[in-house]
Amino acid sequence: MRLPGLIDVHVHMREPGGTHKEDWDSGTAAALAGGFTAVLAMPNTQPAITDVSTLAASLDAARAKARCDYGQYLGAGPDNVAGAAALAGRVPGLKMYLDQTYGPLRLDDMTLWMAHCAHWPRHAPIVAHAEGRTLAAIILLAALYDRPVHLAHVSRREEILLIRAAKQRGLQVTCETTPHHLFLSDQDLPRLAAGRGEVRPRLATPADRQALWDNLDVIDCFATDHAPHTAAEKDGPNPPPGFPGLETALPLLLTAMAEGRLTADDLIARLVTNPRRIFGLPAQPDTWIEVDEAAAWEIRGVELHSRCGWTPFEGWRVRGRPRRVILRGHEAYRDGHILARPGTGKNLFEGA
Ligand code: NCD
Ligand code: ZN
Ligand code: ZN
Repeated sequence: MRLPGLIDVHVHMREPGGTHKEDWDSGTAAALAGGFTAVLAMPNTQPAITDVSTLAASLDAARAKARCDYGQYLGAGPDNVAGAAALAGRVPGLKMYLDQTYGPLRLDDMTLWMAHCAHWPRHAPIVAHAEGRTLAAIILLAALYDRPVHLAHVSRREEILLIRAAKQRGLQVTCETTPHHLFLSDQDLPRLAAGRGEVRPRLATPADRQALWDNLDVIDCFATDHAPHTAAEKDGPNPPPGFPGLETALPLLLTAMAEGRLTADDLIARLVTNPRRIFGLPAQPDTWIEVDEAAAWEIRGVELHSRCGWTPFEGWRVRGRPRRVILRGHEAYRDGHILARPGTGKNLFEGA
């Protein structure tokens, strides 16, 4: 089966500051191996990407090292309201961290949320990490400022029902959910053992997971939230939250397709068409992937291209796997081999 090149609107490349976990090279290799030809990278690096010089540093690294196409989000901080807005044309969106998670960016003061909502250009999305009641609060702010907001990694029944109600009311709300929230729940925590189960939002109940499947029509995007941390870090005394996801997302979703829980159109809408529309991404010409829907195989952390070297889906038997990736006319991946060289990736927002 041939599919368009997939787009992941939520990945963490860890460059700068965490390149032992991932960098633009290994992270985009993992993307290609997973069937993704474009990734949008989050700004919670060290230092965080919040201004013209940190943005330039990330984009310089990406230009030299990325093997697939990319965009780099800007982070909302306490003192970059005007500065961030001035850079809006060069990035896919502004990321606001409104609950506790990994990284240095977190905004507690609601007057800062208001300032960013008022200043960030109306046509450009704000992406929010907002869980539970925080999600209700940011939807209210988006409504007050009459602007779009994209809700990252929705995981709970109350959240998806609130988003449904907001959409019904005509608010400019879009959302994504992750494969790990679609396929795992808190019942998997004993198997994952301590730190390996740590992720934000936390793995939810089976009822929450079921609510995501029951409200699939409300979910605009599947996004991996590829958040690599090494096995040693996950097994250590202070395990950071986050799961890798780029290389397991499509096989898991294809398995659900084989089981009749999703259609190919469901996948294309949430991994290509809606990401492109929400974030204003240009089409990637002569770009597609070839998938073997029948391939039955077992997920193994040691086989991943991601530097983190582990997966919460270790040992899972899946059906379906990308075989070839063609990026802008060139073969970028074939049967386990990354063929695109570092530096072949393009910034989707260059010259925008
Ligand atoms: C992410 C990370 O490690 O950067 N961790 C996570 O658990 N999802 C941060 C985030 O996306 O909230
Ligand atoms: Zn988050
Ligand atoms: Zn994330």
